[in-house]
Amino acid sequence: MRYKENVPLSTLTTMRLGGVARYVVEILSKDDLVAAIEFARERDRPWFVLGGGSNVVAKGDFDGLIILNRIKGFDKLEEDEASVTYKIGAGEVWDSIVERLVAADLSGVEAMSAIPGYAGSTPIQNVGAYGQEIADTLVELEAYDTSNDKFVKLDAEACKFSYRNSIFKNPDTRHHIITSITLKLSKEPPRPPFYPSLEKYLASRHSELVSESTSNSDQILGAAFGTNHQVQDDNFTFSPSEIRAAVMAIRAEKLPDPRDVASAGSFFKNPIVSRAVAEKLLSRFPEMPHWSMSENQEKLAAGWLIDQAGLKSYSSHGLQIYPKNALVVTNLTARSADDLKQFKSEIIARVKQKFGVTLEQEPENLT
Ligand code: EPU
Repeated sequence: MRYKENVPLSTLTTMRLGGVARYVVEILSKDDLVAAIEFARERDRPWFVLGGGSNVVAKGDFDGLIILNRIKGFDKLEEDEASVTYKIGAGEVWDSIVERLVAADLSGVEAMSAIPGYAGSTPIQNVGAYGQEIADTLVELEAYDTSNDKFVKLDAEACKFSYRNSIFKNPDTRHHIITSITLKLSKEPPRPPFYPSLEKYLASRHSELVSESTSNSDQILGAAFGTNHQVQDDNFTFSPSEIRAAVMAIRAEKLPDPRDVASAGSFFKNPIVSRAVAEKLLSRFPEMPHWSMSENQEKLAAGWLIDQAGLKSYSSHGLQIYPKNALVVTNLTARSADDLKQFKSEIIARVKQKFGVTLEQEPENLT
């Protein structure tokens, strides 16, 4: 293993900000991981594990060891009539895993297509998109527990998944380094109702196809446009690869490709507020998107709030609210984490002023 020294964090994170990492190492196996932790301990330094750096914001210098997890693996563990279970190395590129599973005609992760990063990062914040989240398919994961230096297996329940959260995000319980994830995929095709923007896209694609063929058209259109996303025809389905293609097209339109534009995906969490707060806002803004989370909790759309606060395309301190999607902050020319701090405070203050709702940062801080 080669330990590189004084590596700019801007080269390791897609937001391309931050100072210098004292040491950086790539690990290819569990033994490498154990050795890397030992290396950091011998020098009395902290460590931080990175996948693709697409959901992490570097604040300043990191005077410790960055471990780039590149542990590979793609093994079929079990198969029955309805499902197939795979064990996947944490260092596999997430989207190539989705591509392989979709090619095998398996469903469960197809809506999480084109998400940047590595497989082992997906449980940390319970990655989700277009109505699916990793908690839906993850049965188990393996991790190195640095509190007792043992490799452990954790089932989905032990991970305590919730919206963009798990035990791996909590600083008090954050002593696990994920080395593999085990996912159970379904042989059943994905069925509606789909996430609203996905359904809208599928509906418009189908109306194009239907206008070319008259047979079945009422049924297909009824299903695709169904009221309240209900579908009249239970047989109406899409293949995992159709869903993957649709998601990739929608994402390409609304999310910048980290290779071209510096960003960290969604920069704010969708805020969860009490029903009373949501109702008050709805009386002023009846068109406001909202989703019921529980009896007394509603999730609002951070992108909508920022957009309605007039901040789409807003730019200062070298950062910008992405013109095609207000949920995304892009880094045009900023170099320091301080710029991002100032920019973030401005956005939070403007949204708070208009709606009384406090937005929170979604990507994790590397401190
Ligand atoms: N909206 C606007 N203006 C905007 C952006 C959004 O009015 O500029 C409105 C939309 O019209 C829609 C609502 O806000 O009514 C929600 O927007 P959208 O469906 O685009 O996205 P989201 O639910 O806010 C989440 C994830 C994304 C994920 C999409 C699709 C979070 C924080 N973000 O966004 O995840 O791709 O759903 O499932 O949960 C990520 O985490 O990096 C990420 C990209």
